[in-house]
Amino acid sequence: MARLQFFENLKNIGVAVTYDDVRLKSGHSKVEPASVILESKFSRNIPLKIPIVSAAMDTVTEHKLAIGMAKLGGLGIIHKNLSAEEQAKEVAKVKFHLHGLIDKPICVYEDETIENIQKRIDEKGWKFHSFPVINRSGKLAGILTKNDFDFCDDDSQEAKDVMTEQVLTKEPDTPLEDAYDFMKKNKKKILPLVNDDLEVVGLYVFSDLARIIKGKSSMHNVDKKGRLLVGAAIGVGVPNILRAEMLIKKQVDVLVIDTAHGDSKAVLDTLMQIKKRFKIDVVAGNISEPDSALRLVEAGADGIKVGQGAGSICTTRIIAGIGCPQVSAIYNCASGIGVPVCADGGLRNSGDIPIAIGAGAHSVMMGGMLSGTEESPGEMIFLEGRQWKRYRGMGSLGAMRAHKESRARYRVTSKKMVPEGVEGMVPYKGRLADVIFQYLGGLRSGMGYVGAANIEELREKADFHRITHAGFVESHPHDIHITEASNYTPRE
Ligand code: XMP
Repeated sequence: MARLQFFENLKNIGVAVTYDDVRLKSGHSKVEPASVILESKFSRNIPLKIPIVSAAMDTVTEHKLAIGMAKLGGLGIIHKNLSAEEQAKEVAKVKFHLHGLIDKPICVYEDETIENIQKRIDEKGWKFHSFPVINRSGKLAGILTKNDFDFCDDDSQEAKDVMTEQVLTKEPDTPLEDAYDFMKKNKKKILPLVNDDLEVVGLYVFSDLARIIKGKSSMHNVDKKGRLLVGAAIGVGVPNILRAEMLIKKQVDVLVIDTAHGDSKAVLDTLMQIKKRFKIDVVAGNISEPDSALRLVEAGADGIKVGQGAGSICTTRIIAGIGCPQVSAIYNCASGIGVPVCADGGLRNSGDIPIAIGAGAHSVMMGGMLSGTEESPGEMIFLEGRQWKRYRGMGSLGAMRAHKESRARYRVTSKKMVPEGVEGMVPYKGRLADVIFQYLGGLRSGMGYVGAANIEELREKADFHRITHAGFVESHPHDIHITEASNYTPRE
């Protein structure tokens, strides 16, 4: 591991560094930036096609941004400044956005009249007219499609009078791609999946599969059923175990115990209870010391989140005097830990991504760098001829006043609060896809300079220079009045 000597030397003299203190060494390279592989992991069982995760913040990740992130190959973590029910609904909106496999298809009974079925469609506002038809013993008897409704001129007829009885079916675990090929070959618009007792246990709809398979870039980060992956933040204690249960019911893929102090008894207890009760990956944090990482992994964490006070809206380092500069924190926590590490907060430019990964992270979590996108929550603000969006810390006064989970994140129990974050605005950044394209471009380029063909190689090969103030000034554009800098944020 090339970076070992660099960080051990720093540790020996008691110095910790962060992004602006270091640059990656360039090395001999046969790697073309365009061909690097960006796949990584957020946690033991949660894959990433790009190593970027959006922060669980109320001005960053709700369903729109989470959908955008998963479609681009990353992952969104839905924030917890919502009631458990509201947060579960946000999760469901992501999970059902692409409708791969419908695992609880709506069926109609063979003795229901068309009039009755149509009434149900109208009442519920269903946008579809294809239904498996079952008998009163729950066994598949046929299918109804839009044609059957269109050509039926007597609504008092029962489903069994107009349905198609010869139904092609597949077994329960049929993968999405196989179902698509089968439906295409047989020109079938819906495909029920049935068990040995002829009960309908799933349904594929051709138009959904066509949209996923054709419109899909292979970049979509999806589960086995073709649904976008999504994570959700939870806090600590019994109410959050119940919150976890509700999120799991809506098929959330990964839970993130999201606290300002991950190495606390409350976090470890909650982590152990969740791992005991549910079969789901749990990422825990935030921490910045190696002992804390070990304790979380011992308690069952499937991934850890590193970053205390590094964030653009954080004041923890100033108000509480706590935290370790982020690049050293990543290295220290990631060394020999055995689970994926997410570097959370403090990134300002795309070049910070290869630095975080080079220091040992498997992914980066961004708040500020994704806030202000079209998909982030909140209205656009017009001020002084520019467009802005709000961005605030989860420990800011506004967020803590708005929600008890924000207060709990910072262990605030009294009415008078001591915020550990600020509120503000960030320039409107445009579409998420364009923003991520630039960030990945920077990461790819960095990997090309290092000679790393994939994320694991970057973690292996990266080595660093510690830079001086003069080196820092030299790194940024200088001696020019900048007139165009579309993917560069000047230091204030
Ligand atoms: P960036 O730099 O990406 O940081 O904007 C986002 C991360 O910052 C953390 N966070 C906070 N930390 N006070 C803090 O000390 C806060 O109010 C606060 N809000 C968010 C969080 O880890 C997030 O992912």
